[in-house]
Amino acid sequence: MANAPPRKIELDQAAEAVIARYGELSGDKGAFEEALATPLPTCLWANRLRISPDDLAVKLKAEGFEPDPVEWNVDAFRLPATDRPGRSWLYKTGLCHIQEEAALLPVELLDPQPGERILDLCAAPGNKTAQIAIALNNRGTVIANDSHPGRLAPLHAAIARLGLVNITTTAMDGIDFPLTAGQFDRVLADVPCSGEGTIRKGPGKHTPVPENFRDWLRGTQRYLLRRAIDLCRPGGRIVYSTCTFAPEENEAIIDAILSERDDIQLKSPAESYAGTTSGTTSWQGKVYSHDLSKTLRVWPHKSGTGGFFAAILEKADADSSCPAAPASELDAAAQTVIDGFIEHFGLPLNSFDGLRTIRAGRRLKLISAHHVIPEMSQIQASGLTLTNDSAKVPKLSTEAAMMFGNLATRNIVELTSTERTTYMTQQPVSLSEERITLCDEKGYVLVRAEGVTLGIGMLRPDGETSKLESQFPKNWA
Ligand SMILES: C[S@@+](CC[C@H](N)C(=O)[O-])C[C@H]1O[C@@H](n2cnc3c(N)ncnc32)[C@H](O)[C@@H]1O
Repeated sequence: MANAPPRKIELDQAAEAVIARYGELSGDKGAFEEALATPLPTCLWANRLRISPDDLAVKLKAEGFEPDPVEWNVDAFRLPATDRPGRSWLYKTGLCHIQEEAALLPVELLDPQPGERILDLCAAPGNKTAQIAIALNNRGTVIANDSHPGRLAPLHAAIARLGLVNITTTAMDGIDFPLTAGQFDRVLADVPCSGEGTIRKGPGKHTPVPENFRDWLRGTQRYLLRRAIDLCRPGGRIVYSTCTFAPEENEAIIDAILSERDDIQLKSPAESYAGTTSGTTSWQGKVYSHDLSKTLRVWPHKSGTGGFFAAILEKADADSSCPAAPASELDAAAQTVIDGFIEHFGLPLNSFDGLRTIRAGRRLKLISAHHVIPEMSQIQASGLTLTNDSAKVPKLSTEAAMMFGNLATRNIVELTSTERTTYMTQQPVSLSEERITLCDEKGYVLVRAEGVTLGIGMLRPDGETSKLESQFPKNWA
């Protein structure tokens, strides 16, 4: 896990073609090639809903990692390419999330503000959606759309692991995303692209992009950006981004949109970002608006990351925010279930303030009280599962246990680090009497280690001792 010197990787023919195509544009072809042949560092960020970046750094170090703070993002850390933090308990309990460093930039530029209504038009696998949801402090409305329903599965897993209650996922072609869904304060269009900036993830491999495919992509990108603008309120912000170097998919798309609409303008980022350059204003004999220098390019040899492009567009007219949605109340049946959890775990009475429930089949789900689910048929899911069943004694889900566990005052067991591993690999843990003084004789308990709630267990008498049966989900282990 220690920082080993980066191993060079062999670039395939398609990657070499990318270097030849953009060598000059990159400003330093040799350094560009060198960077693409170097494995991509791992990047992760602290889930501020659960832990501060400083406390996460302490825990990462205790696990043998050597986190290096990302200069321009206070929540993020860089780790050597060979590290596998996704296997760590810190990741599995939602204290952090893994995301390519350059990919953090579009949401940074989108600058979501608490109380806003935000659309992520091409959201899967959902890393930027998670960033947005946390920037909104887990309240309000984030709509995460993608045209490929199956690609939203990692987002649904992240929602549970990170404890996010302000997201609704929808699965439809973003080009046709209904205008009747209402307007959004900010829209992210992180569009499908030729992915040339991800060669280091390959590693060293790239799927060549035939010209006709690039033409198809360009059409899709342009239509998606048009829709994103239409869905944004006057005075609101749109961020267009790709993970490719091709000016045809970046500056040229923005240039074309600027020339066809007079209700938008490019905006410069509020601050400078290390490792970025301005977008280009010409490419292969074509000249773009000089305003394109307000866009940002992330170059691997300048930033040490993958490649990215991002542009901030602001929509003209009145600067009026979307009306805040009124808060909804809990229904009586849900209130009974919640009262049961409050009583059993000794939770503060206000633990569920600012939240409401909805039903999805047998599941009771928690969502932010101000979250508005759009009226459209392509809804996939909203919120986070509170309980999976309608049994007489409902069981708190692992994701809800992780969310509220640290507020509990009874029916809690504290595990050692060895026992934590045992519990998280679904093995029983034997506990002596003095370890369960906060617990009823048997039943569901919250399981904690090092001040972090890991999930739920079932405590049963077992001769002189008690046995904690792990309820940690197999597919999270
Ligand atoms: C660059 S990826 C998005 C990455 C994502 N924003 C993240 O940070 O995890 C582009 C996504 O666009 C989706 N997509 C492609 N065509 C689309 C369309 N017409 N409408 C909506 N999504 C589309 C793809 O399925 C893919 O998941």
